[in-house]
Amino acid sequence: LVLRFAGLPGSLRRASFNSALLREAAVLAPPQAQLALYDDLAQLPHYNKDLREEGDPAPVADMRAFFAEADAAVIACPEYNRGMPGVLKNALDWLSRPPDPPLYGKSVLLIGTATGGMGGALAHYQARQVLSAMGAIVLPGREVVLPFAADRFTPELRLRQESDRILLREAMERFCALKVFSLGN
Ligand code: FNR
Repeated sequence: LVLRFAGLPGSLRRASFNSALLREAAVLAPPQAQLALYDDLAQLPHYNKDLREEGDPAPVADMRAFFAEADAAVIACPEYNRGMPGVLKNALDWLSRPPDPPLYGKSVLLIGTATGGMGGALAHYQARQVLSAMGAIVLPGREVVLPFAADRFTPELRLRQESDRILLREAMERFCALKVFSLGN
């Protein structure tokens, strides 16, 4: 059994620490899990119901299909002003709309890193709240929230510390073992 995870980095930055964290998660995932990253966030228009009524714009339809085809999602949430970045909220808003919202009843592992000393914990909990409203099932328990991102990653954007890799690997293992009843749609 292969678990197909769709990764969503909440940053547009080429050298994003959150994208780097997702790539580390892909490397540390148990062998039965495959994590593919969504990398078209910059193409998404701002949410607008008028656009939906004309038929989802191609980048929206592509993103929704990418997450619909996955068994679960891994979302890396940066922190802007103690909240999640607008680009991430915008992506979640597009994903939340009917029919068949692709994260409804689906498991989500939420991770994140920020350059500040709280690691994006406040944005992390805001994202949990939004994902819950969307009907996603966010893995509970020990959070992967890594502060001082600029010191934690090498210039090649790899995690420096084995303790961080252990935390992330354990989260991926708990996520793969998560058993949830499907909520259906
Ligand atoms: C930030 N940053 C930041 N960091 C933090 O720990 N707490 C915060 O509230 C904020 N607020 C904030 C606001 C804005 C507008 C910017 C641009 C940045 C810093 C942030 O953690 C840093 O830019 C990270 O590198 C962003 O994540 P990515 O893009 O590296 O994934």
